[in-house]
Amino acid sequence: MMNLPLNKSFAQKISEHSTSEARADALLLFMKAHGNSFYDESVTQLEHAIQTAVLAREAQAPIHQVVAALLHDIGHFMTDEHDENRDFQAEDWYHEDVGAEGLKPFFDARVIEPVRLHVPAKRYLCSVDAAYYADLSPASKRSFGLQGGPLSPAEISTFENHPHFDAAIQLRRWDDRAKVVGLNTPELSDFRREVAACVLVT
Ligand SMILES: [Fe+2]
Repeated sequence: MMNLPLNKSFAQKISEHSTSEARADALLLFMKAHGNSFYDESVTQLEHAIQTAVLAREAQAPIHQVVAALLHDIGHFMTDEHDENRDFQAEDWYHEDVGAEGLKPFFDARVIEPVRLHVPAKRYLCSVDAAYYADLSPASKRSFGLQGGPLSPAEISTFENHPHFDAAIQLRRWDDRAKVVGLNTPELSDFRREVAACVLVT
């Protein structure tokens, strides 16, 4: 894997707070500051994050999955990877690894692993379900090749046995549906309680 362009200020901004509520506020503030660019052809990064988390809530998923849904693309926020950057979608910046590594000091595996696995989950679903690939958005189809394309049979079986396989697949399905233009959703701050309940304070 290439060197990750991790935004160090993310860790600094969260670490300087010692209560879970203050850490949650710092994280949401970071998202607000970095999420107003368009992620793809339809919605902003912030709208996409909120819509993904709303779908997790609607599915009555455990709280850690709601938070994973909200944070799954935070690697894009950390690298300022978006449509105004020339190289966006011309190369893969491993946003799932950037996000998981950046979140690692602050959350346990129930949040980290679905974030890390949401791109392999897409590669998995494309590999086992032709209809899934056909339904992807144009941007998601474009990035599929950059992300490595289909999994081999051995990779498919390894992935299916991963302890966070189910959570990763669920997150991926919410992710794919969370691109609705103009959808009415709660404010980002509405997720403060869930983030504060999951964030680690050491
Ligand atoms: Fe996403």
